[in-house]
Amino acid sequence: MTAHAIIGSGSFTPTRVVTNEDMSRIVDTSDEWIVTRTGIRERRLASETESTSYMAAAAASAALIDAGVKAEQIDLLIIATFTPDLPMPATACLVQTMIGIPSKAACFDINAACTGFVYALDTAWAMLASGRYQHAVVIGAEKISSLINWNDRTTCVLFGDGAGAVVIGPAPSGSTGRFIGSKLGAIPGTSAVLMVPGGGSSPVQTDAARFITMKGKEVFKLAVRAMDDVARDILAAHGIAADDVACIIPHQANRRIIDAIAQYLEVPIERFFINVDRYGNTSAASIPIALDEARRAGRIKSGDLVLLVAFGAGLTYGATLVRF
Ligand code: UT7
Repeated sequence: MTAHAIIGSGSFTPTRVVTNEDMSRIVDTSDEWIVTRTGIRERRLASETESTSYMAAAAASAALIDAGVKAEQIDLLIIATFTPDLPMPATACLVQTMIGIPSKAACFDINAACTGFVYALDTAWAMLASGRYQHAVVIGAEKISSLINWNDRTTCVLFGDGAGAVVIGPAPSGSTGRFIGSKLGAIPGTSAVLMVPGGGSSPVQTDAARFITMKGKEVFKLAVRAMDDVARDILAAHGIAADDVACIIPHQANRRIIDAIAQYLEVPIERFFINVDRYGNTSAASIPIALDEARRAGRIKSGDLVLLVAFGAGLTYGATLVRF
């Protein structure tokens, strides 16, 4: 069976930087509060024309160039997002047209909130392993600023916009690159702690229901437990010690959550790639943006074992082990 590997990556973040100082002019908050509670120093916010599809297309184009793969070769396009341009069609279909992916390609969106990219990666990998697809583009893209209540200091300081993408294809001959394993899950009965109550087909359709609501402390506890458990599970399932992992790319929601995971897994924090300070929480885009930055910064070398681990609304969780 052909081994499939991540053969390219790309990302796009809006140029508009909004610092904590800027946030303190919008709501009653401070740089000191945001940095100590979250580690976030600034985030990027998309302009009106920088839609989720626009950012996704930019990230995907960069990933295709990096992989040396042409858009015509792609036969699978998956976008993880909870902030699609439209309820339908899927953002993947909009991006397909924008970047010239042919009609033979399967194009669809996945919503597992902040775990979306890990879910999408696992889906793409399984479809490629079936032998019926050859090259996939997997994107995480979010315009979360469109679902933020800018009067709610408990949520508005946390999030940012952006997109990241990878190209998956047959591993080049001689390379060790391949997927090792993946584990996905969701915790029943936890939806109410993090949600956008309106905007869908539910009868809850007040103006306020369009925005993200969150019980931060509860999410924090569940997130640490779920990420620690799933990381341990996947390592144990493949007989790999945490120490053998060269780079851990966690979902970038809160620096304190990442520090806690490092402590529980007993892995030095230097082994984690962290950029939450510059982008805040970009949900499904956070892991692919971090993965792209880590690759370009030389933090991931050929042969390295990399662990991606995430949690998000649902609450969903997941981890993927990849060798580069
Ligand atoms: O991808 C999944 C997305 N979600 C997450 O990952 C969130 C996980 N949770 C967290 O990251 C943390 O719970 C938060 C950063 C959201 C909050 O930190 P916390 O240490 O749990 O603070 P808290 O919610 O207990 O709030 C402490 C105080 C409260 O004031 P009182 O009631 O003690 O007087 C809040 O009203 O901080 C206040 N507060 C703020 N103060 C200044 C809440 N937000 C702010 C703010 N600026 N932005």
